[in-house]
Amino acid sequence: MGKKTLTNFSLRMATLLLTLIITAPSIIGAKKYAASVPYKMKDNVAVLKTPAREKGQKSVLELAVAPIKTVRIGFVGLGMRGAWAVERYMFIDGIEVVALCDKYPEKIAPMQEVLKKNNRRPAAEYSGEDGWKQLCERDDIDLVYICTDWLTHTPMCVYAMEHGKHVACEVPIAMTIKECWDLVNTAERTQRHCMMLENCCYDFYEMTTLNMAQQGLFGDIVHVEGSYIHNLNNFWNEYQDNWRLEYNQKHRGDVYPTHGMGPACQLLNIHRGDRMKTLVAVDSKSFNGLAAARKNMGASTFANGDHTITLIRTERERLLEIQHNVYAERPYNRMYQLTGTEGFANKYPSEGYAFKNGNRLVAKIPEAASIKDSEQFVDDNLMAKIREAYLPDLFKQIEEKARKVGGHGGMDYIMDYRLIYCLQNGLPLDEDVYDGVEWSCLNELTRISLENGCIPVEVPDFTRGEWNKVKGFRYATK
Ligand SMILES: NC(=O)c1ccc[n+]([C@@H]2O[C@H](COP(=O)([O-])OP(=O)(O)OC[C@H]3O[C@@H](n4cnc5c(N)ncnc54)[C@H](O)[C@@H]3O)[C@@H](O)[C@H]2O)c1
Repeated sequence: MGKKTLTNFSLRMATLLLTLIITAPSIIGAKKYAASVPYKMKDNVAVLKTPAREKGQKSVLELAVAPIKTVRIGFVGLGMRGAWAVERYMFIDGIEVVALCDKYPEKIAPMQEVLKKNNRRPAAEYSGEDGWKQLCERDDIDLVYICTDWLTHTPMCVYAMEHGKHVACEVPIAMTIKECWDLVNTAERTQRHCMMLENCCYDFYEMTTLNMAQQGLFGDIVHVEGSYIHNLNNFWNEYQDNWRLEYNQKHRGDVYPTHGMGPACQLLNIHRGDRMKTLVAVDSKSFNGLAAARKNMGASTFANGDHTITLIRTERERLLEIQHNVYAERPYNRMYQLTGTEGFANKYPSEGYAFKNGNRLVAKIPEAASIKDSEQFVDDNLMAKIREAYLPDLFKQIEEKARKVGGHGGMDYIMDYRLIYCLQNGLPLDEDVYDGVEWSCLNELTRISLENGCIPVEVPDFTRGEWNKVKGFRYATK
């Protein structure tokens, strides 16, 4: 090598080295996930920053507002879920549909038809990307009911509360921890109700089991499971502008945790005597998800693993296990399983209960004396008796109507009925803003865990220290 060549070579090497030094952090940074809220590692656990409660904000635990005799509603998002909601509300007394909104105006006319068929006044119409803002700005609406895609939920809820409205919003209500705090802070500042519409809390088996758990039939609860396992391979094209597959294509983690979380967290009295403390997530490779994205979007990558499992430990050292899989060729399953020191409940694939011999069930159902041990599920006769004895009276009264109106077998109707009943009677809602964000927060927390080698992540306390103030979950009644 001549002197000139050597100089050229050294120059090239020096330039390469310099480029590497300058770009190294961004190369590493490109792989690292930038969380929506800063976090620090503390004793090997990722701890996210909790913002201080601002002056003028006040807790909305057990929030009650003045009774609203006729609840005036504005519906935003009239796709599959929103259209069903408008139909269901035709069977609820004491409501008025004041406004209808969808980005696409052609989705409004069929809903006006529904109102007409039910002898109701036509509603005001809003459309376009930002039509919902005008709907929120009206002064004759009490409740904004949101059924749009995931990325629009939090901005819409915040804007509606800032304009004095109560909000009910489809699941998940927030997709990042920043959004979770935006919702909490806005609800605390405006003192408005902010309910995430988690319908799975209102299924008959879940409500019966929750009542049994509250009466101590399972002893101390040790472990609960919940999931959203639903093969969506034949549904991807149904979502407007492909929003769901597009979101999953870009996001790793449990992107749809709330159907599993809601009923499980109610069993554990989360922020009503216990709180989630630490989680860890694992996921599989993307198999069917990637295949769906190749077919439907021409994509060659897919961030969301086919199966994601999250384990959470609570302050009172109990366990929650949550799973997500919307790609598997297998039957639908929300798991819903409870293991206690004295009994066991399992919903899928068939509903069952098992108890230790001598369970206090006997006091209400004498036939329960036949239970030998918890190795066997109770028989059909006992199952029917348990259901009769433990479905809360509150729901027995509306069961027939709920099943007739429908919506996932009646649970959607019960959810809407309860929301309107509580508003009409000035009562706290069954699901408050803290529930909504606790059940949604897995979205980003699992992502932080997964993208950093499955590290433990602390679950933020969205009540800011008040998780033990309310003792146990209950349905408010007059
Ligand atoms: N609780 C349940 O059992 C359940 C079941 C299905 C869906 N969902 C949830 O319901 C929501 C809607 O799902 P879907 O299946 O009806 O989807 P969809 O695609 O059928 O409907 C979404 C609607 O929102 C509208 N929209 C989007 N941006 C808008 C904007 N800026 N302004 C007004 N309208 C806008 C779209 O035009 C579309 O009509 C999602 O959050 C989903 O997770 C819940």
